[in-house]
Amino acid sequence: MAASSPATEDAARRVTGRHLDDILGERVAAPLIVAPTAYQRLANDEGEPATARGAAAAGILMCVSTLATVSLEDVAKAAPDSPRWFQLYIRRDRSVTEELVARARDSGYSALVLTVDMPVIGRRWRDERNDFTLPDGMIMANMRAPAPAVQGSGLAAYADAEFDRTLTFDDITWLRDISGLPILVKGILRGDDAEAAMDAGASAVIVSNHGARQLDTTVTTVEALPEIVEAVAGAGEVYVDGGVRRGTDIFKAIAMGARAVLVGRPVLWGLATGGAEGVTAVLEELIGEFERALALCGVPTPGDITPDLLTRSTST
Ligand SMILES: Cc1cc2nc3c(=O)[nH]c(=O)nc-3n(C[C@H](O)[C@H](O)[C@H](O)COP(=O)(O)O)c2cc1C
Repeated sequence: MAASSPATEDAARRVTGRHLDDILGERVAAPLIVAPTAYQRLANDEGEPATARGAAAAGILMCVSTLATVSLEDVAKAAPDSPRWFQLYIRRDRSVTEELVARARDSGYSALVLTVDMPVIGRRWRDERNDFTLPDGMIMANMRAPAPAVQGSGLAAYADAEFDRTLTFDDITWLRDISGLPILVKGILRGDDAEAAMDAGASAVIVSNHGARQLDTTVTTVEALPEIVEAVAGAGEVYVDGGVRRGTDIFKAIAMGARAVLVGRPVLWGLATGGAEGVTAVLEELIGEFERALALCGVPTPGDITPDLLTRSTST
């Protein structure tokens, strides 16, 4: 894994006065990651490059979505010294995935996040009612095929046509072998699946239900986390996302055994209201709250957070 650059380190120090953490070998300001979210030009005309600059200024790692509205190369150029991961869906046509993986590796993305909870799109009523599709002039910039113009959700039609519904755990091994990069498997909600993903060669799992956008009434990530931490049993790292809105949420997730958290919607809110600066403001608020929680609990670093800090111990 490439060491992070002095610029990243500076950004981390500027915010926190020190760098608080390392995530898969990358120096970061806090155990907090920008979750992959699609179509960011819908939130701000500049889109993903603004998020990249905003995250870099906060010293935070960004995971870029396959369904970005700006090419992965241009997102990388927007914050060249900042750590970044690339999120993937595996395509029916494997050559499309192979090409994306090569482009991501060539552009300095240091890990791949394989999202496994979207073989098909969840029932998104508003997308269907609104015939959701990207407006003119906005494209899925990493893709060869444009989103089809259909009645109903264009995203659902695209996923139906393009995404491979037949993935197995062997595909994790395949992806690791063709990329030579660490693979994080996103969308895990069960201990046995986490164990199988690690056995197949994943470096980490991300406990996620896609921000509750896929299957209604599914388990929440905070409920699933303990079983998964136990199943992985230190064989790799466990990350979690869904509903992280406060620095204390980061603290609690780590106390429950997560290595770090990802945050989705709040970053988009920052992007929509303030562009790159809005993203930085959201992330700095979370980092500041997290640092305050560390101080108020008397723990110097994230690695010192222990499960007993979640509830008052009943032992004497
Ligand atoms: C608008 C939107 C778009 C998303 N797009 C993607 C995506 O392209 N790939 C992916 O793996 N997850 C995607 N997600 C899920 C997020 O990565 C993440 O799991 C979720 O947003 C976390 O919950 P939070 O928004 O409560 O922080 C998306 C979520 C939202 C809200």
